[in-house]
Amino acid sequence: MNLFLDTAEIAEIKKVHDLGLLDGITTNPSIIAKSGRKFTEVIKEITSFVKGPVSAEVLSTDSANMIKEGLELASIAENVVIKVPLIPEGLKAVVEFTKKGIRTNVTLCFTANQALLAAKAGASYISPFIGRLDDVGYDGLDLISEIREIYDNYGYETEILAASVRNPIHFKEVALRGADCATLPYSVFEMLFKHPLTDIGLSKFLEDAKKLTW
Ligand code: E4P
Repeated sequence: MNLFLDTAEIAEIKKVHDLGLLDGITTNPSIIAKSGRKFTEVIKEITSFVKGPVSAEVLSTDSANMIKEGLELASIAENVVIKVPLIPEGLKAVVEFTKKGIRTNVTLCFTANQALLAAKAGASYISPFIGRLDDVGYDGLDLISEIREIYDNYGYETEILAASVRNPIHFKEVALRGADCATLPYSVFEMLFKHPLTDIGLSKFLEDAKKLTW
């Protein structure tokens, strides 16, 4: 499964990149606003060292302006993926980006029907928001299973990019349910390493290692 970070913080991105575990980056307008930096400047900096897909979201809600913004973002680097909201005008723009060979990530997906429409439009990625569904009393993880089944039924190649992943259980479950990728905040990525028995076991090995000769 491909592992993406859901952040625009360069220091966090570098840490995972340096581990050799980073497959790509997703951003959204809230994440960019939190960074306090200029949108295109952040995307330029990320793509200067991340070679996997880097999602940058259009800000308009009509297809003509989405296409204009998307073309500008796509010109920053060949690995920029244009993130488009799941509204009719968004999917209209996705059809055009697909014709031009520009990859897209359709975001704000909350139902299997929406995911089916995005695949029909030719989306490269669909981003179902797990945590936000849980927040309002639905089972976000079920959505991953439903989309997997539908895409497999019809052979759609759109990749399922599990988003709004809030904890390690979400991460494990989306992997079990066949998501192609998951995008995580850095804090959740760090948690994936942790188990108390790993720490206790390592302390004991290091203690015993003092008795060894090489
Ligand atoms: C991913 O594309 C989204 O930007 C992100 O995962 C949303 O996460 P949140 O619901 O925690 O804001």
